[in-house]
Amino acid sequence: MTLRNILFAGAVGFASVAMGAETVRVELKPSDKAPDIPKEIYGQFAEHLGTCIYGGIWVGEDSPIPNTQGYRNDVLDAFRALHIPVLRWPGGCFADEYHWTDGIGPKENRPRMVNNNWGGTVEDNSFGTHEFFNLCELLGIEPYLSGNVGSGTVEELAKWVEYITAEDGPQAKLRKENGREKPWHLKYLGVGNESWGCGGSFTPEYYADVYRRYQTYCRDFNGNRLFKIASGASDYDYNWTEVMMKKAGHNMNGISLHYYTVPGWTGSKGSATSYTDDDYYWTLGKCLEIEDVVKRHMNIMDKYDRKKRVALLVDEWGTWWDEEPGTVPGHLYQQNTMRDAMVAALSLNVFHNLTERVKMTNIAQIANVLQAMVLTKDDKMLLTPTYYVFKMYVPHQDAKLIPLEVEGPWRKVRDGRMVPQVSVTASQKDGRTTISLTNTDLSKEAEVEIPVKDLKLSKVLSGEILTAADIRDYNEFDKPEKVTLQQFSGAKLSKDMLKIKLPAKSIVTLSLQ
Ligand code: AHR
Repeated sequence: MTLRNILFAGAVGFASVAMGAETVRVELKPSDKAPDIPKEIYGQFAEHLGTCIYGGIWVGEDSPIPNTQGYRNDVLDAFRALHIPVLRWPGGCFADEYHWTDGIGPKENRPRMVNNNWGGTVEDNSFGTHEFFNLCELLGIEPYLSGNVGSGTVEELAKWVEYITAEDGPQAKLRKENGREKPWHLKYLGVGNESWGCGGSFTPEYYADVYRRYQTYCRDFNGNRLFKIASGASDYDYNWTEVMMKKAGHNMNGISLHYYTVPGWTGSKGSATSYTDDDYYWTLGKCLEIEDVVKRHMNIMDKYDRKKRVALLVDEWGTWWDEEPGTVPGHLYQQNTMRDAMVAALSLNVFHNLTERVKMTNIAQIANVLQAMVLTKDDKMLLTPTYYVFKMYVPHQDAKLIPLEVEGPWRKVRDGRMVPQVSVTASQKDGRTTISLTNTDLSKEAEVEIPVKDLKLSKVLSGEILTAADIRDYNEFDKPEKVTLQQFSGAKLSKDMLKIKLPAKSIVTLSLQ
């Protein structure tokens, strides 16, 4: 990390590089000009992959597992508490092999299909367009549809949009025959996914033309307005963004970016639960690198779109470890420890500072896949440490960011990346100030001092902490609350100063008035 990066590291602010400092100072700089944090930063992703949909969300109306219209009740309740703003579906790689007409009409007539991307599992198409849009309506979630470009046709995607959003015409008639009178609302439309890879192995030059063609025929019906999203780059593929912005920037509302905290794409990715302290710190460095990566993509976009009309959507992010031993290969089922919670908090802190261009992010994935919110096994469900971070951060949704600077120690980790001991984000909404603090150090407490003279704060309303005896701790079905939220009383507010004793390896959110 260069000095420039350190000085401008938005998530962590200005930093002293001196190691071993005992106290950390945070300067809050509220400003009317500061942006709001779009709630869509807290977006989720649900793919037909392993047991994310089947078993995780959807069990069907005849299931002995308690459900509402086929959706598991325990999972619905868990999702409600997260105030999920937007949900991306049906993939991922699955999207480019999905033919939507297989997933409508009477369930007994729906053809079965092989999920070629993910373990060759045979699916019965019982979860399709109606089941997805009804779920979104039930939970007040904005749907984000990923269209099939790789193996589909322009006609197929155009008709899907018509089926969902038109009031009249042949597709609307079919929808009505299938039990849905009114059109649904559809804003976010992804035109393909990872079109450089599982979504068609296109070159950026070729995909830019294909994208332009497809989006032409995805129409706005009856007042519905689509927000069209081009399939974007992975990680460090800056050329993809360059070509797409140059050739198709005028035809899109947004372009995506995928960035996983993963040790590499070949060989073992490492265990989700068994890792060294050194691995832990490396993970945080890799996760924080997303800031540099996003900024480089943003700089390219600025060249072609100075007015920042086109959004950057990080529509896949999170940790990717080896699958749990004994689980179905290709189902990407991984456990979730306190390390994953740290990755969630640090990533969200980064995103809060990049919203001039980053208007949405979608963690991968919502249930039973990669860095999941919930894990299910038959009729049991548990909440992961990552879930609790999303829960603690709900007050930041649509709140006004409080710009800030943090002065504290940094650690140089394997590979030379830098990790701050303390990362902070803050926002204000409805007269409440929310401050979230993460202490990444495995053994050292941090004494955090925040001058509050200009903020007119009179009391700490509440505090919550997520921590664990061991960073490797996780929740299991027979011990579902090993890592869970607890009340935090380590914050003391005086007239001019907020002082917080931040335990090692902890994430704290304070609500103040
Ligand atoms: O999230 C799992 C997979 O990761 C998605 O299907 C794909 O888009 C990405 O490679």
